[in-house]
Amino acid sequence: MRIIATMDYKEMSGKAAAIIADLIKSKPDCVLGLATGSSPEGTYKDLVQRYQAGELDFSAVRSVNLDEYVGLAPDHDQSYAYFMHHHLFDHVNINVENTHLPDGLNLDAAAETARYDAVVRGMNGVDLQLLGLGPNGHIGFNEPDDCFSYGTRCVDLTETTIQANSRFFASADDVPRQAYSMGIYDIMMSKHILLVVSGKNKAQAVKDCFFGPIKPLAPGSILQLHPNCTVVADADALSLVSHLL
Ligand code: GLP
Repeated sequence: MRIIATMDYKEMSGKAAAIIADLIKSKPDCVLGLATGSSPEGTYKDLVQRYQAGELDFSAVRSVNLDEYVGLAPDHDQSYAYFMHHHLFDHVNINVENTHLPDGLNLDAAAETARYDAVVRGMNGVDLQLLGLGPNGHIGFNEPDDCFSYGTRCVDLTETTIQANSRFFASADDVPRQAYSMGIYDIMMSKHILLVVSGKNKAQAVKDCFFGPIKPLAPGSILQLHPNCTVVADADALSLVSHLL
């Protein structure tokens, strides 16, 4: 695991975007695994600026997203489909037919998770998986558990996650209770993992996941075993481990 220490959110976003931009330039038909949340927003903003400056061409890029809330339509402003359009897809020349997310409106969990597994595995390998880190150490929506997950599944969100994500909704009651999430096995199969993490509220999760024992109660800790994982973190996120770097 390579940890890149940055000063703040802006520098973190710029470094992460540079890594993704290099991949798109060297492999124009790359498969990107994409994430949502406030952590990668700046990374997408930087990528859009690079596209507008003529540096990047997304026309052959394909993408698979990590997760989606169960029950939210793609045009709901808190759905992850909406997020991706708002922050990236609508601003670059990606072919939307080459972009994929779980379908939050398919309430048949068995059918939807099987469909999405087939989509992800049909890509024949994700070149780079972008990740954030939940305050409880979750990756995607793989919550702390007694085992590491395998394929796409329907997850019951923990109270911590519902509270953490309620800042985007009118109230905690409006946060969906379930989500479809790519499993940890599929995340680990990605050729390169790029995790962005920022802020003091993530410092404990950074310490537990990247400087503690590998255990499913700290889902992100499995990334220590990935052969090509880059963590780009800001000073606040590293505040509990700076003496170890
Ligand atoms: C959400 C998403 C995760 C994300 C995490 C952290 O629950 N499912 O993919 O990494 O929360 O979000 P944020 O970056 O907004 O702190």
